[in-house]
Amino acid sequence: MSSRMATCCISCSMPDPVKLIIDTDPGIDDAMAIFHAAAAPDIDLLGLTSIFGNVTTAKATRNALRLVEAAGLHCPVARGAERPLVLPPFPPSAKVHGEEGFGDIPAEEPTGRAVGESAAAFLVRMARNHAGELVVCPIGPLTNIAEALRLDPDFARNVKRIVIMGGSLEDGGNITPYAEANIYHDPHAADEVFASGAPITLVGLDVTHQILCPAEDFAGIAADAPRLGGMLQEMSRFYLRFYESVGKFGGCSLHDPAAVIACAHPELFTTRPVPLCVVCEGAAIGATVADESGTRLPVEVCMGVQAEAVKQVFRDTLALLP
Ligand code: RIB
Ligand code: CA
Repeated sequence: MSSRMATCCISCSMPDPVKLIIDTDPGIDDAMAIFHAAAAPDIDLLGLTSIFGNVTTAKATRNALRLVEAAGLHCPVARGAERPLVLPPFPPSAKVHGEEGFGDIPAEEPTGRAVGESAAAFLVRMARNHAGELVVCPIGPLTNIAEALRLDPDFARNVKRIVIMGGSLEDGGNITPYAEANIYHDPHAADEVFASGAPITLVGLDVTHQILCPAEDFAGIAADAPRLGGMLQEMSRFYLRFYESVGKFGGCSLHDPAAVIACAHPELFTTRPVPLCVVCEGAAIGATVADESGTRLPVEVCMGVQAEAVKQVFRDTLALLP
């Protein structure tokens, strides 16, 4: 349930909404995920943190604020890291998401501003204040999460779970033959996160490539929710054109929405526990592979998904938007 729509539910049997922070590089599928979280009755969106990836950190922060304002949310946005931990920045994914991040939708300045705290400091403080309850859902490169772990050794224990959109165990890559984009943009950060011992679920290409939305789905979303669903439909045209340009005609993958949906609906996914590490050099840089050191805790890697059920949750939830 978003802070915009929060109501108390003492007498009913509904579980408490998931307290969620989304770490994001908006991004077309990030916008879909954030609007989903804004509308979901089972999610309490406590804030957004921004990161480079699909766009620069400056544009990601601007776009996150824009989405918050469009959805009528009142949650804070904290600005994240400007560059990867070790590597030089990789160019933003303009051909997938457009120069400004939302396909053909032109840039627009929000009226609000990011909070004074950095993304890492905000994550650390919120995890302490909501110890054992806060779910963090990174849907961009993992630099802010690695910085939060460096800032506070208790961060890994304070979070309830980190549900990451990224990586791939058996499905190959999408930015290189080996690497998924979010992990590729900062492999050293991702490796630190997997080594942290935090409870982690990985929603990677093994499942997101099974959840496809064609243009007709976005037409339905726009019909159900003309203003915000219409905005997503407009963005999706650019995204679908990119997919078609690489020979994928069945629709675009719901990468980031799948991770947000996994936070509130883990029952729609099956997982395999695998200790993970990230290749940090050579041709396979950014690949997520099983760690053989015997020192790392397993990550719950999503390997199966009820794709139609995930799409239904997505459609039904977005239909609650204006
Ligand atoms: O590989 C998919 C991921 O890369 C998504 O988070 C998408 O937004 C891009 O950042
Ligand atoms: Ca993203």
